[in-house]
Amino acid sequence: MSSYSADPVYLDHAATTPMRPEAIAAMTEELGRLGNPSSLHAAGRRARRVVEESREQLAEVFGARPSEVIFTSGGTEADNLAVKGLYWARREGSGPRGKRHRVLTTSVEHHAVLDSVRWLEEAQGAEAVWLAVGADGAVRPDALRAALTQAPEQVAVASVMWANNEVGTVQPVSELAAVAHEYGVPFHTDAVQAAAQLPVDFAASGADALTVTGHKLGGPVGVGALILTRAAAPVPVQHGGGQERDIRSGTLDTPAIRAFAVAAAACAGQRADEAERLAGLRDELVRQVLAAVPDAVLNGPPPGPGRLPGNAHFSFPGCEGDALLMLLDANGIACSTGSACTAGVAEPSHVLLAMGADNARARGSLRFSLGHTSTKRDVDALGLVIGEVVDRARRAAR
Ligand SMILES: Cc1ncc(COP(=O)(O)O)c(C=O)c1O
Repeated sequence: MSSYSADPVYLDHAATTPMRPEAIAAMTEELGRLGNPSSLHAAGRRARRVVEESREQLAEVFGARPSEVIFTSGGTEADNLAVKGLYWARREGSGPRGKRHRVLTTSVEHHAVLDSVRWLEEAQGAEAVWLAVGADGAVRPDALRAALTQAPEQVAVASVMWANNEVGTVQPVSELAAVAHEYGVPFHTDAVQAAAQLPVDFAASGADALTVTGHKLGGPVGVGALILTRAAAPVPVQHGGGQERDIRSGTLDTPAIRAFAVAAAACAGQRADEAERLAGLRDELVRQVLAAVPDAVLNGPPPGPGRLPGNAHFSFPGCEGDALLMLLDANGIACSTGSACTAGVAEPSHVLLAMGADNARARGSLRFSLGHTSTKRDVDALGLVIGEVVDRARRAAR
């Protein structure tokens, strides 16, 4: 098989993207310093200053007030806190007592939301309502409205992701938030994938809660935030020292928080140019893949404003996605069969199934995702081998 270069080609930025040098520098500097931001002495006050400056920086990047930023250990925790916490708050608070409360979400969410909703259903007596998506993976605001017309006071929370991690569909978040609010229902959005590539403005979106994470935008793994209006008061998932407005207990990770803020600011400073550059590279990647494998199917919305600029997702008829992934890996090219969190479990993608794909198409799919270190060389390397890799995978599947 032809081989392009010994250097690995990384086409899996949606799983995690390299840390930006400025974030590594900030984190390294901070790791050498002392202080728990909750301590009252000078070392603690210094750490607190770093945390609060980082909070301000993140709030500015995401169109929020500093007091609306609640630090967490990442996207998974923020999603759990939003979905479970807002559900419990409504069930215990303003919603009708003794009634079964509904949680509205979509069948294309990341597992952090999907499985939180399933758990609420199985263990907490909630009723889950799965909003349908179209063949492009998008939810129509009318579908949300239809689900809200009956007994909206029994709907605890609605959660729809800003952009899909597998096929890159961008949802009409502000329209969805407006519909939820017409019926007095709090609205959460998982903006983990959107935050690196799209202008994510919490206030303008109208959402009550929004999830972001550090490692998708060039910050470290293990830090994220739930951005929350002051009026939204989720019941905490974890209890302890009462940090973060008593909503999320646990000692704050000052080095990671600082690096997260530095990365988010760097990302925001280049976002418009970078989105254009990535969209250009992505279009070239799509062109090269379709030229080498003419029957490959591009899943998700057409390239344009409805799709993340760095996302390309294909089904390759007659192939197993896992076999393609391993063959590409053997050629020094890293990609994914879907979300990193489910890779390794040989199940067809729930996202593609929800979009109407059959099992075979859902199993024979691969995601290529671009990010801040991607270059044309990465795209050309894929273009050079994808035809042969698909031929081989097809022969193996026969
Ligand atoms: C859409 C989405 N939400 C949540 C997460 C989980 O974030 P974290 O890895 O920070 O827990 C991911 C990670 O892949 C994601 O893509």
